[in-house]
Formats: sequence, structure tokens, C-alpha cells
Amino acid sequence: MFTYDLLIKNGKIVTSGDCYIADIGIKNGKIKDISDEIALDKTKKVFDASGKIVMPGGIDVHTHLDMPFGGTYSSDNFETGTKAAAIGGTTSIIDYAVQPKDKTLNETIDIWNEKAKGKAVIDYGFHLAVTKLNDTTREELPKLLKNGFPSFKVFMVYDGMRLRDGELMEILKIAKDNDGLVCVHAENYDSINYRIEGLLAEGKTEPIYHAVSRPQKCEAEATNRAVKLAEMLDAPIYIVHVSNGEASDIITNSRKQGFKTMGETCPQYLLLSIDNYREEDFNGAKYVMSPPLRESFNQELLWDDLRLGGLQSIATDHCPFFMDQKRMGENDFTKIPNGAPGIEARMALIHHFGVNGGHISMERFVELTSSNPAKIFGMYPQKGTIAVNSDADIVIFDTDKEVTISIDNLHEEVDYTPYEGFKVKGYPIATFSRGELIAENGEYLGDEGRGLLLKRGKPEIQ
Ligand code: URP
Ligand code: ZN
Ligand code: ZN
Repeated sequence: MFTYDLLIKNGKIVTSGDCYIADIGIKNGKIKDISDEIALDKTKKVFDASGKIVMPGGIDVHTHLDMPFGGTYSSDNFETGTKAAAIGGTTSIIDYAVQPKDKTLNETIDIWNEKAKGKAVIDYGFHLAVTKLNDTTREELPKLLKNGFPSFKVFMVYDGMRLRDGELMEILKIAKDNDGLVCVHAENYDSINYRIEGLLAEGKTEPIYHAVSRPQKCEAEATNRAVKLAEMLDAPIYIVHVSNGEASDIITNSRKQGFKTMGETCPQYLLLSIDNYREEDFNGAKYVMSPPLRESFNQELLWDDLRLGGLQSIATDHCPFFMDQKRMGENDFTKIPNGAPGIEARMALIHHFGVNGGHISMERFVELTSSNPAKIFGMYPQKGTIAVNSDADIVIFDTDKEVTISIDNLHEEVDYTPYEGFKVKGYPIATFSRGELIAENGEYLGDEGRGLLLKRGKPEIQ
């Protein structure tokens, strides 16, 4: 008789387009049946999901694990970061593999494979961040786009990483011609340097001046420039970590004109604000990230764009540093490593403040945190949905579970969370990756290093 390895019974299945009660039969890591009632004698194990939400695992398409940055390394590696992700209901990530200036893109993949292989516990892909455009990279790009790495990143800022506008344009064109997608960090490099010079000359060294040095217009200008360059070529573009309504409007307007422009925001821009930089005793450094946190009126504008379709995904930009690392910039905000943690709490925060807060429906929550990221980055329908033949990457979500988020109950390798004391109702209680129960009630249960490198396909414009 045919037997399933696992039966998830009686849960309320929520996908980006549906919400219904059914059983799910899983075999060899894949969903093999979704029916009203699957007989218990057909299965080896049963997980009773009565009264709970059953949703596709979260997909976080913007992480920085074990990344050299600002003279140090982000503190979560592929083991600690992906375990925290799994406990928080995320079953796949795409990490940014940043090309060292003296390495080719293929060598960069080798370096990131080395970091991830045998350590990651959930499936992972890489966006290649191109920092040097030369003949070798030009030759590598089209081949990589066609061979499992269909998305690249271009930084418009950061010394040693940024590319110039003409180079961005060339990469947009290569991506367009080879079914790829370019992700862009959009801020105006020269205006930031101009402001930093002035601020430091006036002795303004505290964390708040990080935000003053890179105001909203600085991001809006670069977003507009990147989007217009893409429009000139009719190339797809994905703007990462959109922090404010002005930048988001540029994306929305481009989309209204029919261009293939997409945008992502992150929990920090929806839930925190520029006021956080004023926390005493250098605690403002916790929030030093780029782009910086904005005036709080932007939060409502971003939620509106998420609901109405101007923005398509929510990722974390998880890039944690211990406070001791942040202290590198105690006397000069420009030396504070940029980045903050968030990989574990994303799903609970967006569910609580988005769905319970009345900004988005449960289906849109699934779409923004899982299905759209899977589609945009070439993983759908293997990932990002609950359907027959999809990977059994499934999260059981208890909408009644109340949790106060704290560094004491998170598992990220860092000594603070920007969301300390945030109260949420609704939390992931079990996470299945390819049919295996890998996390339950705050504990990682799976094997070590079980994550697989995802070779991805053609991006779907959303
Ligand atoms: O401050 C940030 N966002 N750090 C990570 C690198 C990046 O810009 O995404
Ligand atoms: Zn960035
Ligand atoms: Zn980032």
C-alpha cells in the first residue's frame, strides 16, 4: 500500500490565493496529496495541525551571513543564521555573495559555497554582488544567469563595492538579454560623502548623524536614477530595502507605466523610525543600517504600497553585528558597521503588525514573505506554495500564540534585537523543510548542515 512519510492533518492551508482546511500527504520531501481527508493508515507520522494555519515556509531573499563588511564580519554564519531562520518560520534564503575585488564571480561562488556547505540547515541560493565589471565578469555573467544564479546585485554606494551608472546599465542589459534580474542598493554616493565631510567637520559623530548623512532624498534620487536606467533599456529591476514612501512612489509610478520594476521593503522600515537613533549610551548604533530608518510617517506609506501592490516583497537585510563590533564607531558614526539582525522575527512581526494590524490580508502576508520572493527569484513552484509536487517546506503558524520578542528568546548570533519588547500575537510553532520537522516551539531539531544550494530558474516579474 502507498504510504506517506508525513501527514499534516486538519490545518487551515493559506497560500497567496487560497484559504481552506485540508490534509497534506508528504513523501520524499514533496507534497504528494492535498485532500479533504487522507486516511491515517496511509502514513508513518502525523502532525495534527487542527486550529492552526499551514502555510508555505518563509523565503528571505535578502541576507548577509558571514559577510566581510566595514572591517569586520556579520556575526551570524550560515549555521547560526539559518537555524534562527528555521525557528522563525523561514525555509529558504538568498544570501548576497559579494565579489572580492580580486576574484572572479565563479571564485566568489566557491567562497560562498564554502561558507554555506555543511553549515546551512535550510535551502539557500546566492545573488552575486558584482563589484568589478571587466572582461572576465562580462563573460561570466550570461553563463551564471542561465545556470542557477539568475539574480545579481549592484551597489550604488560603499567604497570598494559600488559600480558606476554606466556599469549598472551594462549589467541591466546583460540581465535583460539573459532572463536575469538585477537587485540594486540605491543611495546617492557623492551626496553621502559631501554630507559626512560636513558633519564630521562640525564634530557630529553620534549614531543619529548616520541618518542625517543619508536622508530620504538621497535614496529617492538614486532609486529614480536606477529605475530610469532600467526603463531606458526596458530591463527588469528590483530595488532592495526601500525605506520610505518617496522611493516607493518611484517604483509604483514606474510600474503604472508598464515597466518591469519591483521593490522590497523590510520589517525595520515598517516598525522602527529615525527616533531610535536617539537612544542613549550609544544604543542608537543598533539601528545603523543603510538606508537608515526614516520619519515614522513613512511606515503607513510603505504598508499602503505593500497592500496595493507597489512593493512586492518583504525581506530582512539581516546583517547582524555585536555591540562590541558596533563600538568600532563609538567616536565616528561612519565607522559603525552597517546592518541589523532580523532573520528570526520577520514572519511573526509581519503577521502581527501587518495582518493583525489591518494592513494586509493573511494571503497577502504569504505572498509578500514567500510566494512573490519565490516567483521573482526563480524558485516557484518548487518553493513558495503548498501544491502537489512542491517541496514540503511548510510552516505551522499559531495565530493565538502571544510572544514578547526579546534577545532572550531569539537564536540569532548577536547580543541585541531591534525589536526588544515588541509584543506579537501569532508565531510559527513548527517548521518543515522538504518534509522534515526541523524546528518546533523555539528549538532546532533537524540535522546539522542539511541545507541544499538552490539552483534557480527564470525570474517571474511580479
Ligand atoms: O546596512 C546594511 N543594509 N547592511 C547590509 C548591506 C546592505 O547594504 O544591504
Ligand atoms: Zn544594501
Ligand atoms: Zn543588504
